[in-house]
Amino acid sequence: MTSEVGVRAARAVDGDRLWERHEQLRAIGALGATGVSREAFTQEDFEARGLVCSWAAERGFPVHVDGIGNLFIRRPGQEDALAPIVTGSHLDTQPAAGAFDGAFGVLAAFEALEALDGASVPTRRPVEVAIWANEEGSRFQPTTMGSAVYVGALSLEEALASTDSAGISVRQALRQQDLSPLPPGRREFGVPFAAYVEAHIEQGPILERVDVPIGAVTAIQGLRWFTIRVTGQAAHAGTTPMGARRDAVAASVAMIHELSRAMTDTEDRVRFTVGRFEVSPNSPNTIPSTVVFTVDFRHPDASALARLGDQVAPICMANTCGCTVSVSETMNAAPTILDAAITETIRDTARALALDCVDIVSGATHDAKQMALACPTGMIFIPCREGISHSVLEHAERHQMLAGARVLTGAVATLASDPAGPGPLPPSSPPLQGRSKDTDDQDY
Ligand code: GLV
Ligand code: MN
Ligand code: MN
Repeated sequence: MTSEVGVRAARAVDGDRLWERHEQLRAIGALGATGVSREAFTQEDFEARGLVCSWAAERGFPVHVDGIGNLFIRRPGQEDALAPIVTGSHLDTQPAAGAFDGAFGVLAAFEALEALDGASVPTRRPVEVAIWANEEGSRFQPTTMGSAVYVGALSLEEALASTDSAGISVRQALRQQDLSPLPPGRREFGVPFAAYVEAHIEQGPILERVDVPIGAVTAIQGLRWFTIRVTGQAAHAGTTPMGARRDAVAASVAMIHELSRAMTDTEDRVRFTVGRFEVSPNSPNTIPSTVVFTVDFRHPDASALARLGDQVAPICMANTCGCTVSVSETMNAAPTILDAAITETIRDTARALALDCVDIVSGATHDAKQMALACPTGMIFIPCREGISHSVLEHAERHQMLAGARVLTGAVATLASDPAGPGPLPPSSPPLQGRSKDTDDQDY
C-alpha cells in the first residue's frame, strides 16, 4: 500500500531541479555533446561525489563515508535509532558512457530527500542516499565493488588491492580522494538497512517497446566474469615460420571462437561478451607474446549460469595453440530475486500516481544485487532511448526521469513511514558471505 505521505512527497518532486542537477553532473567528465567519462576513483568521479556532498551541505543533511568510498547522506527520522530506508546508485561510469546510468538513481534518491523536506513529511525511519563506489568495474574489477564490500560479499583487502591497467591500486586511488568542501564523517561497513530501493534506467529496450514509464524489477540476472591471460612468445613476424610460432592472439581468437559457439541458446537468453582484449607488445611486425582478455557471461537461470560458465576454463585450455593460459574468475553472482513486498509497494505507488507499470527482469547488474544479500531490496526502472546504455548515445527524457523519481520518492516515503516497517530477511535469502571470488593466479 502506498501511504498518503508517499503520494504527498512524490508530488513535491521538482522536475526542473532534477534536470538542472543532471546537467551539472553531466558536465563533470563530459565527453562530446552527450557522453560522460568518469571512471571510478578518478578526479572526475571524486568531483561528482563532491558536488552531491555540496548539495547535502546546503540542505544540512550529514554525510558519512566508509573505507571503500561509499557515501551516505542522511535525513533523520522521528525514531532516528531505527535502521534507515536507503536509496541510491552510483556516479562512476564506463570509459565512454552516457549521463544516466547510475547518475539518475543518485539524482532521484537525492530528490526524494528534497521532496520529503519540501512537503514537510517527517518519516519514522531515517532515509539515506547511498552513492556506491565503483559500481561499473571497468577500471578496477570486480563490478559493484563498493556495495559488495559493504555487505561483506567481497573483502576490503581484496578490493583495495585491485589494480587498473596502469598498475594503480584502489588503495592508492582512494588516497587522492578530495571531498571538499565537506569533510564527511566515518561509517562502518554492514550497518543494517531496513530496506534498499534503487532507481535506474532500464539499459534495455523493453519499457520503450511496450511504452510504459515504470518497470517494477522482480529479478536481476546472474553474471560471471573471467580474465584470461594467454602467454606465447614474441618473435619476428617476417622470419618465424607459421609452424614454429606461439602466437597469443591466434590462440585467443581460437578460444573466443569456441566460446562464442558454446555460449548460445535457442531462446536468446545467454549474454556473452569479450569486452577487453589487450595485446603485447602490440606492434604490427612482432608476433604477440601476451593477450589478456575478459569474458562477461550472464544468464537469468542459475543452472544455465553454472553449466555454461563452467565451460569457460575447459574451452580455453583446449585451445592454447602452444601458449600458456590462465583463467581467473573475478565475479560469480547468482541470479537475484528482489523482495516481493517492496516490488508491490513500487507497483502500488505507480498506480497511486497514475503511472503505468510492468514487471521486468534486469539484464544489467546493480548495487541492488549486493544489497539484496543484506536487506529487503527493490528496483524501479525507467525507459531509455532505444534501450542503449554504456554508450554516449544513452538518453532518457526529462519527463521519464521525473516519473521515476516520483515513484521512488513515494515508495521510499511509504516504507520509511510504515509503523511496522519491512520485516526481517526471509529464511530463503542467501547468507551474507563471499559471492565474488578472485582466483587470480589459479591455473586450470
Ligand atoms: C553494470 O554496469 C553491468 O555491467 O551490468
Ligand atoms: Mn548502473
Ligand atoms: Mn553501467
